[in-house]
Amino acid sequence: MQTLTVASEKGGVGKTTVTLGLAAELGRRGVRVGVIDLDPRSTATTWLGVDVPEGEHVGAILGVDDVDGAAADLALVTPWNANVSVVPGSRDIATLETAHQEYGDLRLKRSLTGWDRDVVLIDSPNRQGGFLIRSALTASDRVAYTTTPDEDGRAGVEWARYNVARFRQLSPLNPNLAEAGIIVTRWPDTVVTRDARTAIEALRETAGDLLLTPFIPERVIVRSARAGEVWWGDFDRGAVVADAFTQLADALWPDTKETGR
Ligand SMILES: Nc1ncnc2c1ncn2[C@@H]1O[C@H](COP(=O)(O)OP(=O)(O)OP(=O)(O)O)[C@@H](O)[C@H]1O
Ligand SMILES: [Mg+2]
Repeated sequence: MQTLTVASEKGGVGKTTVTLGLAAELGRRGVRVGVIDLDPRSTATTWLGVDVPEGEHVGAILGVDDVDGAAADLALVTPWNANVSVVPGSRDIATLETAHQEYGDLRLKRSLTGWDRDVVLIDSPNRQGGFLIRSALTASDRVAYTTTPDEDGRAGVEWARYNVARFRQLSPLNPNLAEAGIIVTRWPDTVVTRDARTAIEALRETAGDLLLTPFIPERVIVRSARAGEVWWGDFDRGAVVADAFTQLADALWPDTKETGR
């Protein structure tokens, strides 16, 4: 099982879209994917169109100590793809962010044991440094950052990287956590603005080795698919977005790459 957290300190920079785009692409390839929705607003859960039974969400992992096998028990298969299942999020986990819980950071990692998934993707809230993101980083092999091509997005990556560096320095729980790269979302490919170019140049200067390509183009279909709780790849207009995710999945999980395309 390989586990990746998608993170940024900034809101609205495509964390959820990237998590689900990668999940859908891997699922299409026959990879068994688990999504963990760690955002109290649970946008990933809603978008994946699953019906969550009362109380059966990720809070049942984060708030209790006896969690062996819990992810497998709580996971729901999305109508998007039979290979993709999600441990649902819930507003209830917002209160856990500030509560002190001894060894609590280990629960999420522990809960993954025995889950029949090849890849686990964790969608995180933008608040860095708290219990939720620490749980995610403890459970992960790698972290990928997302950003929109603007100054706020770039700063969001910087702060998330700072948090990861602190985590690696201070937490004995997962010293081998690696940075998988930076994914640029909502790229205005039809008319590239000066702001977008400037933001990418600034990213290249500070973290050029981490920048992944291709950038994910901005398309209206992504929003409409979200509203309809479906995957954009099911639509002709979504093909260019799905193609960007295909190439990103090749870069992030080369061993799942399809040959002969
Ligand atoms: N490639 C794209 N084309 C068009 N719109 C996009 C694209 N990617 C993301 N969006 C839109 O941008 C908004 C933010 O995206 P998303 O929810 O994935 O970001 P986020 O970082 O998870 O946000 P939050 O911090 O609120 O969890 C959403 O309305 C989404 O539909
Ligand atoms: Mg989100």
